Parts: sequence; C-alpha cells; structure tokens
Amino acid sequence: MQKISKLGVLTSGGDAPGMNPCIRAVVRTGIYSGLNVVGIRKGYQGLIENDMYDMNPRSVSNILNLGGTILKTARCLPFRTDEGMETAYQNLKEQGIDALVVIGGDGTFTGALRFSKKYPDIKVMGVPGTIDNDLYGSTYTLGFDTATNTVVEAIDKIRDTADAHDRLFFIEVMGRDSGAIALRAGVCCGAEAILLPEKATAIDDLIENLRAGQHNKKSSSIVIVAEGDKNGGVYDIARRVQNEIKVYDIKVTILGHLQRGGSPSAFDRVLGSRLGYAAVKALLNGHTQKMVGLQANNIKITSLEEALTQHEFKLEQDLMEMADILSI
Ligand code: F6P
Repeated sequence: MQKISKLGVLTSGGDAPGMNPCIRAVVRTGIYSGLNVVGIRKGYQGLIENDMYDMNPRSVSNILNLGGTILKTARCLPFRTDEGMETAYQNLKEQGIDALVVIGGDGTFTGALRFSKKYPDIKVMGVPGTIDNDLYGSTYTLGFDTATNTVVEAIDKIRDTADAHDRLFFIEVMGRDSGAIALRAGVCCGAEAILLPEKATAIDDLIENLRAGQHNKKSSSIVIVAEGDKNGGVYDIARRVQNEIKVYDIKVTILGHLQRGGSPSAFDRVLGSRLGYAAVKALLNGHTQKMVGLQANNIKITSLEEALTQHEFKLEQDLMEMADILSI
C-alpha cells in the first residue's frame, strides 16, 4: 500500500453549513496522524491556479460555528477539461500532495472520480456536503439539517403573518432536483401542501385540497414548492391557483440563498467532524475513489462510482403519506 504524506483539502460546488467543522476535522486528524495538510482555495479552481497554503491546527481555530467555508468554493468549468485536469495534476505533484479530501456534492464527486481515474497516484476521498441531501451512500449530507432548520424558522414567521391576514402563501425552497428540504420543512411547519419533484401533484388536486381547507375553516394556508417541482415554477403555480380560487389573497416567497448560510446546527457540526475524521482515516487505510457517509448512524464507505451511478435517492415514504394526513 502506497503511504500518503501530504494531504490536500478542498470544498467545491455550493457551500453548505457543516463544511467548516469538516475542514477542521480533516486538518487536525491529518496532522495528528503525521501528515502535512494543505488547504486548497475555491475548490478545483485552486488546484488549477495553484492557490494553496499550509495548514496547522490553529488555521482551523474557532470555525465550528461558522457557515460558508473558510476555504471558499466555486463551480469550476475548466476542471472538466483534460487540460484543466493536467494543470491541476502538475500543481499537486509540484506541491508533493498525494491525497485529497473533497467536500461537496455530486458535481464535485464526478470531477474527483474522473481525476483520480486519470491520475490514480493521487488518492481521493469524498465527503458529502450539500444542503440538497441527494447523495447515495449517506442518509444525511452536510448542511441539510441546518438548511431545513433555517427554512422552518422562516416559514414559522410567514405563518404568523399569513394567519393574521387569512392569506395563502406559496413558498419556494431549494434542493435542485431533490424535495428533501421541502418535505421535512413541510412536516415541521404543517404545510397544507408540499410540491415535490419526486411526486407529481396535479394543480387540480392542489386546488381541491386548498378548497377543502377553506371549507374546514383554515385561516391560513402554506404551500411549499421544491424548486425542482415539475409544475412550472412557483409564480406560475400561484397564478393558476389564483385564477381558480379568487377569494384567496395569495402571496409568493422565494427563500433563496438564505437557506445556504448560517451557523451549522449541532447535528451538522457533529456530522462534519465525524465525516472529516473518517475521510482521513479511510485514506490512511488505503481507500481511494470512495466517499464516507452516514448510514444507520454508522460511518460507511461507498465507492464514488456507486455513489454516482446509483444516485437515485429516495424520500421517506411515511413522511410523504403522513404530511397529507396531518395537515387536513
Ligand atoms: O446544490 C445546492 C444548491 O443550493 C441547490 O439547492 C440550488 O439549486 C443551487 O445550489 C444553487 O446554486 P447557485 O448558488 O450556484 O445558484
């Protein structure tokens, strides 16, 4: 087994609360294990631009509570090209880095797998970091819990004003093609309806459901729309409903990027620490082209190949059924 001596760490793609606790764990576990650790700025862009710096235990002091990522992040198109990868590889060789921990989502993992297949002498370990919670191989991804809490806090506030005015609100939440945030937040906030990419909802059924709510003397209604829902966008849905139910005073709120920020929750701090620690241990034990994840509250290692090809993630069936029943 080829031993590793110098470890690089980067965050890539959309930032997620919990990335900083993870960076801290990678740096300190690496140094504790006798490795030199290098921070790479702005994800794969920093590899191409040779934007790296030596880290020590103090480089990651007092970051557990910080949202965002101290290493910064980017969505880097040049890394998708052979030339970009070759430059990144030459820079890594020049720095003497022989292993990487990459923290990010499926775009990050796709880049990591392609790179390490091309240059297998650089060992690679992925850590799932995205608010979308859409990666196979880990029940939870870094940032999902914090983002969901942020959404719940925001929707609770909207509920106050919706109730005061007897209004109907359509609230769009993030998640790309995943309805994970929408579903959890919907259950937490007693949303009257949750529109998810994973489950087709006919607008006629939604209208019927909202009419039933009126009939049942609901004073306010909240419809959460996951951004990936296939009904044509939150404004379009609101307009179609408004055309059919004139009595409602309808408002639309798009929560947007506030969902990505904020201090990581206790759950995400622990998850980031566990996954960062596990990623370094896995590299030291000879694993490469893999990701560490949490399954049934245990650390599990999954190949990046499997994580990316089996990328079908499933929402909890009971939550989907229950959400409708509990909001009658
Ligand atoms: O993947 C995280 C995420 O926040 C998605 O939920 C969202 O669709 C996307 O990133 C937004 O990306 P950007 O910040 O590049 O606009």
